[in-house]
Amino acid sequence: MTSRSLLFSGIAITAIIAAGGAFILMHQPTLDAPVGDAIAVLDANGKRIGDYRVPADSTIATEPNAEAILLGKRLLNETARLLPANVGNGLNCNSCHMGQGKLSDANPYINTTNTYPSFNPRANREIELSMRINGCLQRSMNGKPLAADSTEMHAMLSYMNWLRQDVVKGTKVAVRNAGPIDESLVPDPQRGRTIYAAQCAACHGANGQGMKDQAGDYIFPPLWGDDSFNIGAGLARTYKAAQFVKYAMPPAMHLNAPLGAGGVLSDQDALDVAEFFTHMPRPDFAGKVNDWKGLKKPKDARY
Ligand code: HEC
Ligand code: HEC
Repeated sequence: MTSRSLLFSGIAITAIIAAGGAFILMHQPTLDAPVGDAIAVLDANGKRIGDYRVPADSTIATEPNAEAILLGKRLLNETARLLPANVGNGLNCNSCHMGQGKLSDANPYINTTNTYPSFNPRANREIELSMRINGCLQRSMNGKPLAADSTEMHAMLSYMNWLRQDVVKGTKVAVRNAGPIDESLVPDPQRGRTIYAAQCAACHGANGQGMKDQAGDYIFPPLWGDDSFNIGAGLARTYKAAQFVKYAMPPAMHLNAPLGAGGVLSDQDALDVAEFFTHMPRPDFAGKVNDWKGLKKPKDARY
């Protein structure tokens, strides 16, 4: 570089830093995310009967059970660190229930409290919400269940119940747990390997191992190997993983989607990369013998 171009890049960098400083000054950081747009509340016939807004965490303090809700929030965010006896891998609940379960298409908890008890096809019976949470602990977290009457279970349920606000059972906030994917497409794992290297490896690692911070906590969660979800998890299934990846990954700033740059991948791209990483080595699930008993398995079931 010549001294002249060095000078110019110096000026450019100074200008960028100054602009950044001005931006920060103009946009005083608040302690919480802004309250989002109104989302329709639908009755059983799909008719709009009201509005729901994702509540700001600052409002938790005014709740009579604030302590339980706040503990639930922490447990869902920092599960691996806070519940080492129950979590058998490197994930937190909110590694998959993104944005604290407040985002459509990324496994939100918004309608969860009002959805249970409900029939669970995998178990072929009606289950309580605590049992559903334990399902994720044993499969997605490759760990052990929490007692239904434990402080921790109660705290997680309290957070989910707070998140629904005043939306009552029998009605539904118009968010999706996962977006649609074309199930007639056939996955190509070789193509998926190439997409993985281009779109995912920067954060999740060339070998799917994720990335840890200095404290040893994952900042980017692993996608396969011993610290990942086991073969019994919903995300171990190609089409379910593709739904998540298509709408929630790769995350980036300043765009809509669940946490940024959703919609980067086509259905075929998402399916190919999902087939690739879900079928890389991961823990087995001993309880698999009891799944889909007496029922037709979904086409992407792993066993
Ligand atoms: C590896 C990703 C992953 C992790 C980690 C994970 N989950 Fe899930 N969870 C899912 C997916 C995917 C679904 C949708 C279920 C399906 O269709 O199989 C789900 C479903 C649920 C549901 C049902 C939601 C509803 O409204 O029906 C609850 C509740 C839940 N998870 C709670 C938790 C909790 C609590 C934890 C942590 C202890 C956790 N999950 C960890 C992926 C994950
Ligand atoms: C910019 C970094 C980044 C990129 C690129 C990225 N991810 Fe992620 N991914 C994350 C983060 C961060 C999370 C955890 C979500 C959270 O903590 O909010 C995550 C979570 C996940 C999860 C659920 C948790 C787990 O570990 O199983 C899957 C699956 C996933 N990503 C797949 C992908 C795929 C496939 C791609 C490429 C198409 C991709 N990601 C690209 C950062 C990234």
